[in-house]
Amino acid sequence: MTLPDTLPGTAAADSRPGSQWWRTAVIYQIYPRSFADASGDGVGDLPGVTSHIDDLKTLGVDAIWLSPFQRSPQKDAGYDVSDYCDVDPLFGTLADFDDLIEAAHSRGIRIIADLVPNHSSDQHVWFQQALAAAPGSPERARYIFRDGKGENGELPPNNWESVFGGPAWTRVTEPDGTPGQWYLHLFDSSQPDFDWSNPVVHEEFRRILRFWLDRGVDGFRVDVAHGLVKAPGLPDYTPDPHAGSMGGEEADVPYWGQEGVHDIYRDWNRVLAEYDGDRALCAEAWLPTVDMTAKWVRPDEMHQAFNFAYLETPWNAAELRAVIDESLRAYPAVGAPSTWVLSNHDVVRHASRLALTAENPQGHGIGPDSPGKPEPVLGLRRARAASAVMLALPGSAYIYQGEELGLPEVIDLPGDARQDPTWFRTEGERYGRDGCRVPIPWDADAPAYGFSPTGQSWLPQPAEWATLARDRQVGDADSTLSLYRSLLAERRAHALGAGTLRWIDGFGDDVLAFTNGDVTVVSNIGSEPVALPAGDLLVASEPVTDGMLPADVTVWLRTA
Ligand code: NOJ
Repeated sequence: MTLPDTLPGTAAADSRPGSQWWRTAVIYQIYPRSFADASGDGVGDLPGVTSHIDDLKTLGVDAIWLSPFQRSPQKDAGYDVSDYCDVDPLFGTLADFDDLIEAAHSRGIRIIADLVPNHSSDQHVWFQQALAAAPGSPERARYIFRDGKGENGELPPNNWESVFGGPAWTRVTEPDGTPGQWYLHLFDSSQPDFDWSNPVVHEEFRRILRFWLDRGVDGFRVDVAHGLVKAPGLPDYTPDPHAGSMGGEEADVPYWGQEGVHDIYRDWNRVLAEYDGDRALCAEAWLPTVDMTAKWVRPDEMHQAFNFAYLETPWNAAELRAVIDESLRAYPAVGAPSTWVLSNHDVVRHASRLALTAENPQGHGIGPDSPGKPEPVLGLRRARAASAVMLALPGSAYIYQGEELGLPEVIDLPGDARQDPTWFRTEGERYGRDGCRVPIPWDADAPAYGFSPTGQSWLPQPAEWATLARDRQVGDADSTLSLYRSLLAERRAHALGAGTLRWIDGFGDDVLAFTNGDVTVVSNIGSEPVALPAGDLLVASEPVTDGMLPADVTVWLRTA
């Protein structure tokens, strides 16, 4: 299918109040520092996003999720917020944010902001006040300060480990210069955890929600939505060493998925309901089962929760069918859509992940010395086939900037370029997530491939990315960009997001085949070609000929 450059009527989801647009929307994740740099300092920014808004309209997405752009010392790429109600100068100003909202809304594209409520930056005024105040003070009670164990409090209060490696506690020096209490940080030591048993914290976050809702955001992606409440008494816990670093492998973890967290989202649901239209909350909650994740989207809580069980499923027909079945049972059972996702800024890009040959727990990343490096041609082929499955499923879907270009994980980043705190806190034992965060190639022949007018780029871009640059893909009917545009256009034309999935059997164990409305989807996940059923070809993830579907290819057919 060849598409014109602009697609009238294809970008906007139903924007009427009450449309519950988030149930079926395709939402494009922008990682602002790596999307487009208008200022020329080598770091992407909000004016850079605004300058490409028509490219997103042409792609056919309904909404944008912006990873953090709020004021931050950038110790964890903005997930360490020092002022929740301002834009970091690295990314622009509040006026730039307003311009972006205006540009997006005028094209029917919604904007979801990232919200980071589990922890702030250690540069946040509250944490600075806590350090200057005495143990037991109201200032310290906004975070989780505890006395240490041992004769002189020299041991951390419990054995918890940071998600990024190393201990989850750091000892402070009291204002009088003596070694003092410890504070909890599930992530970097520059990211102290708030104490959500303190009503003051609740009040502050209601204020922050309203600040951005008043500015016109359509919702929030909630960072570490499973982590805000900790088990009483902060009991010791030793995680499974093979578990992904953000959780997701085990139940009963004293800092993930505690029951009390749901009251917070019920409260936020009421705050969103004060506003006109449909504002949505999306949970980033890494939990071991689909059923557990579904609790985050009960009718009076959040609206979406990333389906990480789906993201973590290997390229295997039986396992994919099982997780899709579970998802289409568990989420609708609580009245919610499934929110499909294959890539984001925390995981190995799926153009590499689907062709890995060694275990790679989430957050560990891949680097020059990793075992089982992905095979790039096979990885891209599988990624295209996998995206064609995902975008045919009923529900909502998130796509991560660059996946529409088929970008792979960057493996050969030099150590001195890496910036993920994981890399530093594990002393290079885990490479971390920089490999999926390399700035986007826009123009093959421009400096920094058009990412920045000065040719700077906060992470080096690989030489082979010239061929993946967007301008090379626009006019190429076989490019990954053209594939995504076709998938999004057909998804909309056939209302697949709001459809119903019915499996078709008879293709063998290695094939996923289903109908969604008048579209039949067949995905060959095995190694042998299979015969295609009858039907008009709508989209194919690779060219198909002779009525046969090759390995690692997905097709959409129109059937009567
Ligand atoms: C999840 C975010 O996606 C990740 O990038 C960040 O490092 C942690 N939460 C901590 O905020």
